[in-house]
Amino acid sequence: MFKRRGVRLGFASRVRRGALIQLVLFAIAAAAVATAVAVAIPWMPVSAGKEAHRIHFVYWFATVIAIGVFAIVASVLTYSVIHFRARPDDDSDGPPTHGHTTLEIVWTAIPAILVTAISIVSAVVLAENGNAGAHPVKVTVTARQFAWEFTYANGKSYGYLTLPVNEHTKLEITSKDVIHSFWVPQLSQKQDAVPGETNPLIVTPTRLGTYPVICTELCGLGHAIMRSHVTIVSQADFDKFLKGGASAGGGGAPGLAVFNQQGCGGCHTLQAAGASGKVGPDLDNLKAAAAKANKGALADFIKQSIVDPNAYIAPGYSPNIMPPTFGQQIPAAQLNQLVQYLATNTK
Ligand code: CUA
Repeated sequence: MFKRRGVRLGFASRVRRGALIQLVLFAIAAAAVATAVAVAIPWMPVSAGKEAHRIHFVYWFATVIAIGVFAIVASVLTYSVIHFRARPDDDSDGPPTHGHTTLEIVWTAIPAILVTAISIVSAVVLAENGNAGAHPVKVTVTARQFAWEFTYANGKSYGYLTLPVNEHTKLEITSKDVIHSFWVPQLSQKQDAVPGETNPLIVTPTRLGTYPVICTELCGLGHAIMRSHVTIVSQADFDKFLKGGASAGGGGAPGLAVFNQQGCGGCHTLQAAGASGKVGPDLDNLKAAAAKANKGALADFIKQSIVDPNAYIAPGYSPNIMPPTFGQQIPAAQLNQLVQYLATNTK
């Protein structure tokens, strides 16, 4: 009897060691597959700013934890499916079980600790990402259906955003009409543009290049085309940019400044302005379009098309998505500059 018991104990411990090895092997396999999926697929856009680096860190922190939990669960599940499966003809009840207090405390405490750790890391990142430093570059971002306007401290405005690398920038975001949302995927953060409110967003670009600015709040028919871009440049190039270039108050044709300020190039092509938008009619074809529309002189046709875009819709562009609000938004003198500029620069 005694001898027989010893044999059975030896067998049990051999089973246990075998089971542990199997569980560990399953866990390693599950972790390897999950890690491959996490690493091999580029889930995230390239990170082009300090804030984006920190946010990506939070993602990876949570991902590593998730892979660990997944490996343990998948391993135990696989082991159980293989070893404790009922035989096809086995209709009997399973053995009665009751709770295991220690196990239950462990599997409650560990997730609680992990979730708390993620909360702490997130809170630290949130606080750091809201820190603009002592002297941030300030840019006012004004959204409207369906264009972005970026105004610098010197009063100059552009349809595109230019930022210096490795400098804190405080974007002060607002809207002239409905709620929009500012998003540069490579800078990782979104901020709503709300009429009557100014919402801050701190970005600290770290990577030279040009990245899209996207509106991520459904704001009307032209929402999908409400795009611009941000170009991250060196400090020297940024200083040069602030001094010159197309702007509301600076050099170049005044009409070109209005064209850029109003974001016309986001939707329209005009070679003279270096614009290549494909959403609305090609402004290099204005003469032919005016002839076809038969609405009087070229300048009159252009002016009417800006102020009352529904008056004549170019073939292929129906229903019209050009906002009817430019007539109220653009001061009369600037509107005339824009009309003159378009009339003389179309081919
Ligand atoms: Cu503006 Cu969507």
